Amino acid sequence: MLRRAGLAWAFVVGLPAVGAAVDGSNSTPSIFAPVSTPAFAIRELAFFVLGITGVIFAVVAGLTLYTIVRYRRRPGDRASEPPQVYGSMQIELAWTVVPFLIVVVLFLVTARYIWSIDARPQPPGAVEVTIVGNQWWWEIRYPKLGIVTANELHVPASDPASPTPTFVTLQSVDVIHSFWVPQLAGKMDVVPNKTNRVWIDPRTPGTYVGQCAEYCGLQHGLMLLIVVVHPREEFDRWVVAQQAPARDDPSARHGRELFASLACINCHTVRGTPANGVFGPDLTHLMTRWTIGAGAARNTHENLRAWVNDPAALKRGALMPAMKVSRADLDTLTNYLVTLK
Ligand code: CUA
Repeated sequence: MLRRAGLAWAFVVGLPAVGAAVDGSNSTPSIFAPVSTPAFAIRELAFFVLGITGVIFAVVAGLTLYTIVRYRRRPGDRASEPPQVYGSMQIELAWTVVPFLIVVVLFLVTARYIWSIDARPQPPGAVEVTIVGNQWWWEIRYPKLGIVTANELHVPASDPASPTPTFVTLQSVDVIHSFWVPQLAGKMDVVPNKTNRVWIDPRTPGTYVGQCAEYCGLQHGLMLLIVVVHPREEFDRWVVAQQAPARDDPSARHGRELFASLACINCHTVRGTPANGVFGPDLTHLMTRWTIGAGAARNTHENLRAWVNDPAALKRGALMPAMKVSRADLDTLTNYLVTLK
């Protein structure tokens, strides 16, 4: 059931393959299956609000039904209006004061939850990540670890006994996006010229799916964000692997030289090579990622070739231009890219 819902979601974001690519049933993005403190708090608050509004619904709908049945028109009724009530101080006070008090309670409880999430100080062991919204992909930087990647956030699981939360700084280079991984934290807007923050402390390793939640242009629907929560040792291994410079596969030397001679290097970085552009995703460890174009396609050799040939065919409006290289050069380039593990 969960798995099916995960696939349904992947289909909604235009990526039928992600359900299969992202292992495990955790890929269902539901606010009712939290694994991180802010998301637990949000679920609690949601149940509280649902409870109060549920009672209001039951009272209003119940009284309405009762009235409809009890005072329905019967044969022999005289067609006259019931007595009309005007200017009753008691009734007007009741239907003003009671809803006002309910709204005050909802407001105060919500404010308290928001405050308790915001007030959490950053502990010394926290992982720091800066996520930058782009049209239409996420740049993910670990400033203290010297790692730059894209669209897939890796964090350690956080044991409540000795928490290792991840504190995320959110920035945008173009328009307003919104960071939302329902199982980990609430929505947070990603606004140009403003820095927002969220923190997460996922307790359960697994893969969680998020998506840009603020309409940001043509490919808003293809701003998939995959969050991989690793057990601590696994995360440390991931860090070491990502910190390494790009592989220098001798069999792909020709492709690397071709890559370095093309405009690719103005936008992309491959650490350890002349490519140091910053407009597009860092490609140093490109092949460790599941998708191309923030969920536009599975990251396979074949799809990568199609992407380099013409990104717009997979993701219309993508800012990367078609490289217009010959078929032979396209093969050479792609054969190089797939060595970037
Ligand atoms: Cu970015 Cu919607």
